[in-house]
Amino acid sequence: MKVTELDVPTQVKRVLAGKGLNELYPPQADAVETGVLDGGNLVLASPTASGKTLIAELCAMKHILERQGKVLYLTPLRALTWEKYEEFQAYTGLVKPNGQKIRVGVSTGDMDNSSPWLEAYDIVICTNEKCDSLLRHRSPWMTGISLVVADEIHLIGSDRGPTLEVSLARLRQMSPDVQVLALSATISNAEEIADWLDAGSVTTEWRPVELREGVSLGNHITFKDGSVRGIESFHKQDQINLALNAITDGGQTLIFVESRRRAMATARTAGNALKGTLSKRQETELQRIAADISVRGEKTRLTDDLAGCVSRGAAFHHAGLNREHRRIIEDAFKAGYIKILSATPTLASGVNLPARTVVIGNYRRFVPGYGMQPIKVLEYKQMSGRAGRPQYDDIGEALLIASSDDEQDYLMTDYVLSEPERIDSRLAQESALRGHTLAAVASDYAHTEGGLLDFFGSTFYGYNYPTSGIKLIIGNILRYLQREGMIEYSGDRLYATDFGRRVSELYIDPLTAVVMRDGLKRGALDVTDFTWLHLVCHTPDMRPILRPRRNDMEAVETYFEDHRDELAVQVGEAYDYIDYQDFLGEVKTAMILEAWIKEVSENDLLERYNVQPGDRYSAVTNAEWLLYSAHEIADILEMPEPRLHLRRLRDRVKHGVSERLLPLVRLKGIGRVRAQVLYNSGFTSIARLKRAELRQLTALPLIGPRLAVTIKEQIGGTVDQHEWERLKTAETAQSALTAFIEEEYEEKREEEPG
Ligand SMILES: Nc1ncnc2c1ncn2[C@@H]1O[C@H](COP(=O)(O)OP(=O)(O)OP(=O)(O)O)[C@@H](O)[C@H]1O
Ligand SMILES: [Mg+2]
Repeated sequence: MKVTELDVPTQVKRVLAGKGLNELYPPQADAVETGVLDGGNLVLASPTASGKTLIAELCAMKHILERQGKVLYLTPLRALTWEKYEEFQAYTGLVKPNGQKIRVGVSTGDMDNSSPWLEAYDIVICTNEKCDSLLRHRSPWMTGISLVVADEIHLIGSDRGPTLEVSLARLRQMSPDVQVLALSATISNAEEIADWLDAGSVTTEWRPVELREGVSLGNHITFKDGSVRGIESFHKQDQINLALNAITDGGQTLIFVESRRRAMATARTAGNALKGTLSKRQETELQRIAADISVRGEKTRLTDDLAGCVSRGAAFHHAGLNREHRRIIEDAFKAGYIKILSATPTLASGVNLPARTVVIGNYRRFVPGYGMQPIKVLEYKQMSGRAGRPQYDDIGEALLIASSDDEQDYLMTDYVLSEPERIDSRLAQESALRGHTLAAVASDYAHTEGGLLDFFGSTFYGYNYPTSGIKLIIGNILRYLQREGMIEYSGDRLYATDFGRRVSELYIDPLTAVVMRDGLKRGALDVTDFTWLHLVCHTPDMRPILRPRRNDMEAVETYFEDHRDELAVQVGEAYDYIDYQDFLGEVKTAMILEAWIKEVSENDLLERYNVQPGDRYSAVTNAEWLLYSAHEIADILEMPEPRLHLRRLRDRVKHGVSERLLPLVRLKGIGRVRAQVLYNSGFTSIARLKRAELRQLTALPLIGPRLAVTIKEQIGGTVDQHEWERLKTAETAQSALTAFIEEEYEEKREEEPG
């Protein structure tokens, strides 16, 4: 089917032609034939890179340009949200019937916000969690949504799946006529999802580039079709060796590994292994990219590591990277400068970054409580599907690694030759239902027990199972929520209390709220920063909990004994081993946060506690959110003292600084390291900074001319006009204006529409 034959406005066809899209891929043509452009619901299940997004783009344009509609695009990941945001930029020049141009908005940030500014956008792209939170806040503009795109809908079968099915059920309850377009990897029960959504379905195995799957063992690879190919021995690590083999053949390799820690270690090994294989020109370019990485972002170990790997032709990609770094890495890989990229499975979900060769470094994944478990076939297919770059490669190769004949047979039968499994709902668990039940009552999805069952009956779970299966769980949850003062009955009718409504909006587990409330009320004999840091680490929403290892176990235990009086939670005496490890993990995580806000340097912190930059990053972002929530709960409880303390703690955790640096880090472009530079040079307050001359600032390390100007723009004060003009136009490599850390960037977006 030709693009020119499509029933879409001419200006849309022009955009497609501009992108070089003239002919629809077969799955796209099938999708169009189901009537999706005329408003029919559709589940499109097709392999990686088969062009599912284009169908979403076409539907979106129909709604906006022809039906005065509004589009909500849901993705499971922040990284994907930004990628889609960039893809939709191609349409922002198009003109709506009212003469205005199409506007695309994105929101991944702040969960406790109804983001009213999103009203102004024709397309809103957000994560499933943000959508759920917007629904809980009853954002009024959401009733105007006419098309919902649910990308990567097969993730309904994952931990975070319940959020997506509940959100879709609610969106359809709110606007029964809303069009639903669900995009999925190939799964065996796409028809069931379609049936649930009253949708048509298209399921295909079509791929733009042929895929050759194989399993390596020793010095040869056996492929799906039975053929065998020898490989050379360049490196003792199989995954690196396979990558080096691909590189001698002129290709790039994507290595999937199981964790951030492993991704970074693999990139380091890969970088060293690439020595001597790069041309002078490549090396020069890589140096330039590495330098770019160093200036864009806080100076942390992660940044240094990344820059170090990139200068050698390797890199890692995981969810702990900030947006600018991620983009630099993706571009450098697409341009062919980075030869080996190691990635966590995040990349397998929809981020469009193909490579000729994909190596699945480990088909097992650590599952807490179960040890190493084999991944699902679906996940294997998603990763292997990244192999093969359209327009560049005739064939893509995806390789698993075996270390014995038996294992090779196993991998061949259980992965390469297997069909992806069916997707099943994860909703029927108390932990998942607790928050959604409270939200349903607090945000008016249902007001009786029967109404709740009807509502959950409209989810994918309800499509597959009778709701009698969750009746008991819901009953338990309602009793719990009532006992804890989050809901009340009036006859048969259920209402959320102010407390309950706030907990639902804060997007925390009701259990977390109870831990916080009880801890706040209990207080501690000796209230310190550690009291509240530990309290948030004690909640079920704190993840990851960083457990002590053998070498710091004693230090953590000692710290706990010395600081017992500072805890606001009851410490039981008889712990079993697992509980005790978890408990020490909470203590250790709180210790790390405490060291972080005492300005212990990143390197010392990581070494002292034996943690990875990514873990530190997750602990900090999570703690920041939970401290905010605890602050809000203290507000409801009318406890001004802890409230104020929590507020400052939150700001300090966010930036990793002690009280003295708080005023400085509140400035855009100033993180903990630059704040220290300023403070140590005598600019200890905003007042002093106001009196500073520009050239005094630019003389400092890590403060470039642009940043100096930005500081002055924010705080005012006297500046030399001539110097101001000179610096404002300065285009220097060490421009720090763009060096905001990700959170600051996103916050800015949340605050400033447009
Ligand atoms: N008809 C087409 N002709 C040429 N290229 C196309 C066509 N449709 C899509 N593409 C390109 O294919 C690439 C992959 O598309 P897309 O990201 O939509 O894949 P997908 O099906 O969503 O896969 P996944 O989400 O599993 O990665 C994009 O670069 C897109 O521009
Ligand atoms: Mg996609």
